[in-house]
Amino acid sequence: MTTRLFHVSDVHFGVEDRACLDQVAKAVREERPDALVCTGDLTQRATHQQYKEAADWFRSLGVPIWLNVGNHDMPYKNLWERFTDPYRRYNALREAVAVDSFETPDVVLVGLKSTVRIQPRFPWSDGFVTEQALSETQKELHALQGDDRHIVVTTHHPLLGPKGEAKNPTIGGDAAFAALGQAGAQAVLSGHIHKPLDEIRELAGARIRMLGSGTLSSRLRHGAGPSYRALTFTKGEPIASELRELEPSA
Ligand SMILES: [Fe+2]
Repeated sequence: MTTRLFHVSDVHFGVEDRACLDQVAKAVREERPDALVCTGDLTQRATHQQYKEAADWFRSLGVPIWLNVGNHDMPYKNLWERFTDPYRRYNALREAVAVDSFETPDVVLVGLKSTVRIQPRFPWSDGFVTEQALSETQKELHALQGDDRHIVVTTHHPLLGPKGEAKNPTIGGDAAFAALGQAGAQAVLSGHIHKPLDEIRELAGARIRMLGSGTLSSRLRHGAGPSYRALTFTKGEPIASELRELEPSA
């Protein structure tokens, strides 16, 4: 038995690459993955219109949708709402189109929040794993102790900085990586940097496969084009990851 997941990220409705989204939707129709994971930055500015476009697209796919919140998914102009109720719009989308849990005989997904409404530095776009967010994820992982399926954490920001660089832009990322690895996470799916990554990282006794998908928007960075991943999970075997690089629209 195997489980197939599509992993997309940073769709940024508002500046989405529609032709790329059409290609993903076509692949979903043809291949019928068991779920589609989107690791955050669903919208560009968290407007109601952008959330509506996101809802329409995710709903049209007809497969279970698993979401993470990204730094772009909190109101940008409405600061009152950003400070008082930053996840209201995201939570409404999640309730409308996404599942709260996803597990099969091969794999279990566990979410980790890497955003905060405000942080004591700029840019606010970088990741911040709070102790509370980490402890909620750890609790879920501890409940899975001894489970021999693939235990996969999904989050928006990469938990570690680029390989070989001392600085980690994600506050709390090192501690989260170590804690998740010790609690049994085998892989972390993330986005945010608009560039795919697939590397095994080790820190503080933890060893985790870090899988990132690029963007499906026009916000191309680091010389990388749009991309997503098709992941195959089979119990007892390494995760098979196929990176699908797409042509950006002109
Ligand atoms: Fe982001």
